[in-house]
Amino acid sequence: MGAEIIYGKELAADLRLEMKEEVKKLAEKGIIPGLTVVLIGDDPASQSYVKGKQKASDEVGVDSNLIKLPETTSQQELLNLIDDLNTDENIHGILVQLPLPGHIEEQAVIEAISPEKDVDGFHPINIGRMLTGEDTFYPCTPFGILTMLKSKNIEIAGKHAVVVGRSNIVGKPVGQLLLNEHATVTYCHSRTKDMKKYTKEADILIVAVGKQHFITAEDIKPGAVVIDVGVNRMENGKLTGDVDFEAASEKASYITPVPRGVGPMTITMLLHNTIKSAKRHHQ
Ligand code: GUN
Repeated sequence: MGAEIIYGKELAADLRLEMKEEVKKLAEKGIIPGLTVVLIGDDPASQSYVKGKQKASDEVGVDSNLIKLPETTSQQELLNLIDDLNTDENIHGILVQLPLPGHIEEQAVIEAISPEKDVDGFHPINIGRMLTGEDTFYPCTPFGILTMLKSKNIEIAGKHAVVVGRSNIVGKPVGQLLLNEHATVTYCHSRTKDMKKYTKEADILIVAVGKQHFITAEDIKPGAVVIDVGVNRMENGKLTGDVDFEAASEKASYITPVPRGVGPMTITMLLHNTIKSAKRHHQ
């Protein structure tokens, strides 16, 4: 028995085609979704993510603008810039690439972005709206995961979803979105005792810890749906996830690969949120 592989890359390409059509229709009404990405410093991983965002925006017709600032930028300078972007009518989405240099308080920056332009879905107001089940901007990676599950008509209601990792960007919000879909959710993290006990019970296992081969076949239940959010660079330079893909795919019913799995969905949901913001703004 081999698991069906859920290729986020293919789903993302389909969704972007649909978005391109939608953006064309908006353009006929004079609406051009605008996204501004702010990148501070020259972290290579962040630069590569930002490049991906620019490329995907171009593909769909979202007007994306990159503001690159030096590592030495002060918190106040960044907050002033965000104030300007918040009031710019042509900008519907603001994304400040994380992580930020140590002298800048990340939470202060996240909270400075207008919740109506927070296409990352990180502002406490949007997190609160997600918690209460309101329609809002959902964080992109969790929203991408949910979209992947739905694309395969995987049942979520009543299932036991186990989330390994509790980051604000992935673990916590993906658990919340699954709870909103009526799953029973368990969170595991670095202080969890006997983690395998939980992972082995998961109908849906989401792994977001950033450790190569953290989960292997013996940690999963036969027939489980396994979603691998990890992106780890191996010694040979290739990317790999948090799950031992070869072994786990013998036991799972569905599994996501790395690369070509969750990653491409994240950027796609960012575009979705930007288009949503533009539509809302012009309602
Ligand atoms: N750094 C890694 N992932 C993300 C993301 O989804 N949004 C932002 N702003 N920074 C990130």
